[in-house]
Amino acid sequence: MSPAAADDEVLGRVYDARLVRRLLEYVRPQTRLIAASLALMFAVTAAGLVQPWLIKRLIDEHIVTRRLAGAGSIALLYLAVFLVEQVTRYLQLYTMERTGQNIIRTLRDRVFAHLQRCDLAFFDRYPVGRLMTRVTTDVESLADLFSSGVVSLLGDSLKLAAIVVILLWLDARLALVTFTIVPALFLLSVFFRGRIRQAYRDVRRRIARINAYLQEAISGMLLIQLFRREAEDRRLFDSINREHRDAELRSVVFESSFSAIIELIGALATAAILWYGGGRFLRGALTLGTLVAFLEYTGRFFAPIRDLSGFYAVLQAAMASLERIFALLDDRPAIVSPAVAQPAAAASGRVEFDAVRFAYAPGREVLRDISLTIEPGEKIALVGATGSGKTTLVKLLIRLYDPTSGTIRLDGRELRDLPLPWLRRQIGIVLQDHFLFTGTVADNIAFGCGPLASERIEAAARLVHADEFIRRLPGGYGEPLLEQDALRALLRGRTAILIAHRLSTIAGADRILVMHHGRLAEQGTHRALLARGGIYARLCALQFGWEEELNARGARAAAAGAADAGAGPEEPLFAEPRVATDGEPA
Ligand SMILES: Nc1ncnc2c1ncn2[C@@H]1O[C@H](COP(=O)(O)OP(=O)(O)OP(=O)(O)O)[C@@H](O)[C@H]1O
Ligand SMILES: [Mg+2]
Repeated sequence: MSPAAADDEVLGRVYDARLVRRLLEYVRPQTRLIAASLALMFAVTAAGLVQPWLIKRLIDEHIVTRRLAGAGSIALLYLAVFLVEQVTRYLQLYTMERTGQNIIRTLRDRVFAHLQRCDLAFFDRYPVGRLMTRVTTDVESLADLFSSGVVSLLGDSLKLAAIVVILLWLDARLALVTFTIVPALFLLSVFFRGRIRQAYRDVRRRIARINAYLQEAISGMLLIQLFRREAEDRRLFDSINREHRDAELRSVVFESSFSAIIELIGALATAAILWYGGGRFLRGALTLGTLVAFLEYTGRFFAPIRDLSGFYAVLQAAMASLERIFALLDDRPAIVSPAVAQPAAAASGRVEFDAVRFAYAPGREVLRDISLTIEPGEKIALVGATGSGKTTLVKLLIRLYDPTSGTIRLDGRELRDLPLPWLRRQIGIVLQDHFLFTGTVADNIAFGCGPLASERIEAAARLVHADEFIRRLPGGYGEPLLEQDALRALLRGRTAILIAHRLSTIAGADRILVMHHGRLAEQGTHRALLARGGIYARLCALQFGWEEELNARGARAAAAGAADAGAGPEEPLFAEPRVATDGEPA
């Protein structure tokens, strides 16, 4: 079992005032529903308790005495009370369930909103499966607290107390005989409830494992098929699946034995009442109606005892879930937007890294002492072997992570002092390789859809927040894009950091930064770097194995400018599969 799953099953205290006080904050808005539910609960209980008493009167005053006058109205009254009980029970269950679901919905929204605010380092720490559990299962076990919880606890206690008083009042001796079954009933209920809960927990845990396994297997299908792990994965899945079935069966065994044993105790109680009560009836110490009422009341005694015995476990599970949910909500995001006014103008684009170090996990530095300055409008190509830290550098720039030490500045202001939404709006990201073809911007948006009305094209651009930017291009939506030229057109007047794979992009950059094991190993123009014969030159050679040719061609390309370099069919530089240099962290 993974540590995450183990952690999810830890049950703590049964009642924790601090947690309950925090929960009250969510309960308070539901006060009216709760009040309605309580009022209805009194009605349900009263209606339920009146029925055996009506039966007693019908028997004693009419059936035994053969006096039919008035019997009909008691029977009608019985029917009316019965209907009232069912209708109020329906309403009571509904209001109670609604209360619980309202609270759960608010809590779930809160957890989700919180997750959206968490920084990426948080998601590196927290496995997805565990977060899913918070939002689903943990919140669900709070639902139990409301549906079979607090209001029922009150209702059940009230009902039990009332029945005890009524039975003692009807016939004290027979009542005491009847009560002898209560300890056995209660203890057995506690025993079985505990086992059943445990079995349910096992089932839930195993479903969670099935989910986690499925999630991994489906998202990793590429690797599974590539390395032909199908048979082994099937075996693993089957064993998890089998454990789930066994847990389900265990819960069924306990459930079925529990209800059988409760029925048995019920039969014993009935026998005791008939035997002892029957004797008293024959001696004239008890009316027939009282005897029947006793049987009726005793029958109504069972459900509350069973439910009360389960309450402890429900409460315990709910407290454990609350503890975990609140712990999650208390996890303060490490990256928050500072409360400062948003800069009036757009950034001019001067980027400075000053002695920046960064590690995803303590002790494993991914960026080591990076210092560099990028001038406004400068085009930078970032190259390096896989894992050398290129993407990480960009992640730090948009503050997906903060450096472990050192500072990053945009236009002279430290990133931590800039409003986060503004910062991220200043920096556009083009993910992976872009595909543009010759034509206008509008043609590119409409690509593959045939001729489209300009409103639809603009609507599409607005949808991806590109509208504003496109309007600022000299030709707007009509701005022509040439395939090799497209990126440059889009980047005109902007500072650009390109994690580039294509020779034209790299060679056309104002400056190339070469990352190596998290360090800025070399920088300069394509030609200068090739001439230097260092890491960059070696990377080019490793990639293509034509060192000599590359030298000549690279020099030509740099001299003629990037647009010319792309004139022939272009070979990708550092494209997949990429080169791993020795000593590269896996
Ligand atoms: N979320 C993460 N948690 C832990 N380590 C990470 C994480 N992301 C990246 N790394 C590690 O940090 C190092 C740098 O990764 P990075 O993605 O910055 O490299 P890269 O130069 O962009 O590589 P590539 O060319 O493959 O995209 C690698 O060793 C990588 O395994
Ligand atoms: Mg990368």
